[in-house]
Amino acid sequence: MIPDETKTERPALPQGDTGTKTVFIKSYGCQMNVYDSQRMADTLAPAGYVETSSPEGADLVILNTCHIREKAAEKVYSEIGRLRVARDERRRAGGDMQIAVAGCVAQAEGAEILRRAPAVDLVVGPQTYHRLPDLIAKARGAKKPVDTDFPVEDKFQVLPAPRREKTLARGPSAFVTVQEGCDKFCTFCVVPYTRGAETSRPVASIVAEVERLAEAGVREISLLGQNVNAYHGEGPDGRIWTLGELLHRLARIEPVTRLRYTTSHPRDMDDSLIEAHRDLPALMPYLHLPVQSGSDRILDVMNRKHTSAEYLRLIETIRHARPDMAFSSDFIVGFPGETDADFEATLRLIEDVSYVSAYSFKYSPRPGTPGAGMADQVDEAVKAERLARLQALTEGQQKAFNQASIARTMDVLFDRKGKHPGQIAGRSPYLQAVQVDADESLIGTVAPVEITTTGAWSLHGILAGSSPKPRLTGWNPIPTRESLLEL
Ligand code: SAH
Ligand code: SF4
Ligand code: F3S
Repeated sequence: MIPDETKTERPALPQGDTGTKTVFIKSYGCQMNVYDSQRMADTLAPAGYVETSSPEGADLVILNTCHIREKAAEKVYSEIGRLRVARDERRRAGGDMQIAVAGCVAQAEGAEILRRAPAVDLVVGPQTYHRLPDLIAKARGAKKPVDTDFPVEDKFQVLPAPRREKTLARGPSAFVTVQEGCDKFCTFCVVPYTRGAETSRPVASIVAEVERLAEAGVREISLLGQNVNAYHGEGPDGRIWTLGELLHRLARIEPVTRLRYTTSHPRDMDDSLIEAHRDLPALMPYLHLPVQSGSDRILDVMNRKHTSAEYLRLIETIRHARPDMAFSSDFIVGFPGETDADFEATLRLIEDVSYVSAYSFKYSPRPGTPGAGMADQVDEAVKAERLARLQALTEGQQKAFNQASIARTMDVLFDRKGKHPGQIAGRSPYLQAVQVDADESLIGTVAPVEITTTGAWSLHGILAGSSPKPRLTGWNPIPTRESLLEL
């Protein structure tokens, strides 16, 4: 998209800047990276950067990377190769393009990225991206900056808030990071190394951000953390609050109608959180609760610190508090030493719980993690075969859940245009995608929908009753040209 500078007002540029520039940010990995990418754009806006939807012609390209599996990490290098070609073309035409690597690969590999990919101009980790304007300026000098600090300052204190129109253009559903890092050290996982130790944002800072989003028209907030239910932030009363307490506080912010949180560890599902599911209608009945394996022996070697029986008991307790709770999980197949019997135990656990969705992966040995050095690495062909069997089971459960939704009426938050003209799309409380023939003016509202059919990946329905809840103020379903320019 070519920005039209005549239509937008820009804040004053810092000295040395020559005018509006464009930035393209590509996110890999988890939702936290999506959130971080938005905040990077917010950080760059006062320096005159306007987001663009493709790398062609961008003055700055940021790859916000993921290190969780080898494939994810390697993708970055092929993308840098493509960008280098685009940048060289631009240089021949008298322009330029800066290339930045951010996120978890940046944190894990640091200066090694510059050695392996000299086209990269700067490297910045997940805890220091608030310094981007400064780093970009430094990258024009003799030495390319690599900033992978875990600084003492809290980036959330200094990150600028986006303009209201920009929040609107991002849609009625927003992510808010409340907790970062992980102290659990599962033996397969890089996150404790890439994101550092567990930290929680203070309650007041989260409340202020959610109030700002609500005021701009956001109706659904998904709280994010690598270990979100280990949240232990400072409350306004000076006490340390749990996630359950935080959710109670956020549920009072009108007119946010939906709250979610992800990702949780089974060990941190405390009573206050389970009670929140019982007591807060705004807290959606969908919980992503990764178990990874159903074998106690593998769970132990993975350092998950619970057994499959404890996990099943927890599911039962949560269902008791909120009977319609839908569960999803992550699974790893082929962790070192996983036998056929271990794998069968995972299938049995899946049958016991019955998930509405699941994310499953072949174990990928990651440098620096204990799992990578373990004996009995499982053959790739065995991993592939197990993954296919596991996915056949979880996909069958997902289909059955969707099938059982037919003829039910459920509230849908419409968040985008649908697949076909005249359709809009949204999410059910159980995070199912729902397509409905309805007017675009309903985007940004919650309305009851009667489910009529199911497709491969989404449900179809009709508006139930003739009077959906009134359109909520401030939500503009069709972004204005001005707000698009901010994208
Ligand atoms: N904090 C979350 C998981 C974050 S990582 C939790 O405790 O469950 C997201 C998912 O990626 C994990 O749940 C796991 O299933 C998968 N994963 C992490 N490391 C992996 C590895 N080395 N190989 C394959 N999958 C992995
Ligand atoms: Fe990784 Fe999650 Fe384990 Fe932390 S709890 S080490 S993020 S899998
Ligand atoms: Fe990937 Fe980092 Fe998220 S490794 S999954 S982007 S925390």
